[in-house]
This record gives sequence, structure tokens and C-alpha cells, in this order.
Amino acid sequence: MNIRNAALILSAVLHTVWGQSPIVSVRPKTAAVKLGETVSFSCRVTSGSQPRQLEWKRTNNQPLGDNVKLGPDGAVLTITDVRLSNQGGYRCIATNAQGKGTNTASLTIRQPPEVRVKPSAPLSVHAGESVTLECSVTGKPRPSISWTKQGSEAELVSTTTDTTASLQVTVMSAEDAGIFVCRAQSREGLAEGRVELRLEGGASAGMFPQASVTETDLTAVEGQSVTMHCHATGSPTPVISWSKLRAPLPWQHRVSGGSLTLNNVGRQDSGQYICNATNALGFSEAYVQLEVDSPPYATTLTDETVARPGDALRLQCLAHGTHPIRFRWTRVGGASMSPGAETTKDGLLKIAQLKVSDSGTYKCVATNHVGSSEALAKVTVRGASNSEET
Ligand SMILES: *[C@@H]1O[C@H](CO)[C@@H](O)[C@H](O)[C@H]1NC(C)=O
Repeated sequence: MNIRNAALILSAVLHTVWGQSPIVSVRPKTAAVKLGETVSFSCRVTSGSQPRQLEWKRTNNQPLGDNVKLGPDGAVLTITDVRLSNQGGYRCIATNAQGKGTNTASLTIRQPPEVRVKPSAPLSVHAGESVTLECSVTGKPRPSISWTKQGSEAELVSTTTDTTASLQVTVMSAEDAGIFVCRAQSREGLAEGRVELRLEGGASAGMFPQASVTETDLTAVEGQSVTMHCHATGSPTPVISWSKLRAPLPWQHRVSGGSLTLNNVGRQDSGQYICNATNALGFSEAYVQLEVDSPPYATTLTDETVARPGDALRLQCLAHGTHPIRFRWTRVGGASMSPGAETTKDGLLKIAQLKVSDSGTYKCVATNHVGSSEALAKVTVRGASNSEET
């Protein structure tokens, strides 16, 4: 190797050291500190020719802030008495003749949760009154918020945003009053706030009405009278009123001492009756289901039939009333039914070929669980049979 070659290589080596833009590292890369603490980041050029300049900038392009100081040659950035506005990225920039090198450190603020509740003093409420308790929290990272009642672990349903939880409470009785606790929790810690609700006038302040009926299902037969009894507790003493679901009360009704009496009920009076007990705190409803049954009312489709021997007979019995209804056909006067007679479940009597001896009165009896009813049909068979005529 001659001197000239050696000089070229040396110049190349020197060029790679000196003729390169700086490579920068920062330490630590991230830091998380509490408000009021002090934190430092240092910046070092790990390769490249020595920079002419080291500087720090915020990644959000805001000024560094008056609590941020730069150490010797700008290599160390120190933040004293850290505040929320210091959170974010810090970029170290090294500049030399060949160019720039940068690296970034980031600062996060740790803030244990803090809770503020409204109202801050114990609150007296009237029975039946609704109040809203508000809890607002601060902290980093963002804490979770929950409301509970002292003495119970169960979380209460509240309306929450990122930093608030509003709890609506309706105090009906002394048990609903008490101390409500708002809890904010993050990995930085736990904070609680308390609100006390007192029932105005204490336990004697009132009791929500509660209606109950002695029988929830009643059955009656058409024409009968029915009485429904309703009982209510509460303070002040509730007033009882009766109504019928989706219909007015039957006009033949009477209300006395919380009981509803219906006279001479019909099938249309079947349905749901509502007892409503109301006092200053609210109302409570109880239901009675009434079913009015009616006995069958039977008729025959034809009450007189004239036929010839050999004709077919069909007698239809009809009935209305509460189902199920059973039908039975017999002959009046003790004569026996033709051996060829057939009856169906829905009240039809069939005789395929009539004889003169089938003449007489037939009786249909319709029966349900309430009662029975009968209808008559007269059958006359006379003259020459159809077959003999032709
Ligand atoms: C019961 O009474 C309350 C208050 O008077 C009323 O708001 C409610 O509608 C009533 N319920 C019925 C079924 O009438």
C-alpha cells in the first residue's frame, strides 16, 4: 500500500466519523412522575461528528415552560415542580455541518384520584322526594367511578361521564336514607367522598302504599253478585279506588270500604279489575281476574220435521254458554231411540232410514259445569216410503 492509498483510506475513515449527521439517544425514554416532583432527561450524541448545537423542543410545538431548565451544553433537560401542562413529548435535536439527528422522550403525569361530591353537607329530604348526588373526580390515569351505599357492596346505577357520576336517589322510607359513597380508583390510588341523606321527620314521615287483594282469581255465574276485597297499608292512609282494565266499571257496581261489589253479573263483566291505593307518597295497584260463566241455552235448528219412511233424518242441537258444552239426545215419553240412530259431540242426531215408529218428540239436553238446558224437536214419519212410491 502506498502513502497515497493510505491517505485515501484514512480520509474515508475520518469522513465516516466526522462527515455524518449526528445519531442521538435520550434517557430515560419515558418517565411518569407525580405533580410537584422533579424529572430530568439527558441527550447524548452516540455517533457522528460532534454537533455544533444541542437543543430541546416540545413535540406539541409549545414553549418549554418556565419550570424547564437546560443543563450544561443543553444535554440535560430538567423540569422542577412538575405540573399538568408539562405532560407530553420532548425532542432533543443535535445539529452538525452534515445535518440533524433527533430523539424523543415522553413525560406522563401520575395523579392519584381525588373526589368531590355534591351536596357536601348532609341533606334532609321528604319521603317520596328525589335528589341527585354528584361525584366528580380527577386523576391520571383516569380513575373508575362508582356509587355504593354504606353497608352494602352493591354498585348503584348512576349516570356517568369520563369524570362524573350522578346518582339519583328517591327516599321512600327510612331504609332508603343513609350514607352514599362515591369511590374513584386507579392504579395511583383510591379516593372516596360521602353524602349523607336524612329522611325529614325520621321514620314516622310516611310509608309508601301497598295494595293487596284477598283473591286474585274469581269465578261467578251469570246473574250472581260478586264482591272483591282490597286492603291497603301505608301512611298517610291510602285512598282505594277501583277500575276495570280497558273498560269502564259495570254500571251496577258499588264501592264501600275498599270493596267492590258487582250485582247481576253478565259474561261481559269478565276481565281484570284494578284496586288502586293512593297516598301522598305514590300509589300501588293490585289486580283481580273475574270470570263470569253462563249455563247453556239450547235450541234446535228445526223444531218440526215431517218425513217419509226410509228418509234420512238430521237434527242439529245448538247451545251458547260457557264451554265445554256436552249434548245428549233422548226421546220424550219413554220410547226407545232407533237402533240406527247416531249422535255426534257437537249436537247432531242422525237416523239413516226412518221408520214410522221413529215418530215422536226428541229432546236435546245441553250441559256445562254451570247447568243444563233442553230443546225439543218433533218428528212425524208417515205415508208410503220413497222406495215403494217409485
Ligand atoms: C292509580 O292512581 C294513580 C294516582 O292517582 C294514577 O296515576 C294511576 O293511573 C292509577 N292507576 C289506575 C290503573 O287507574
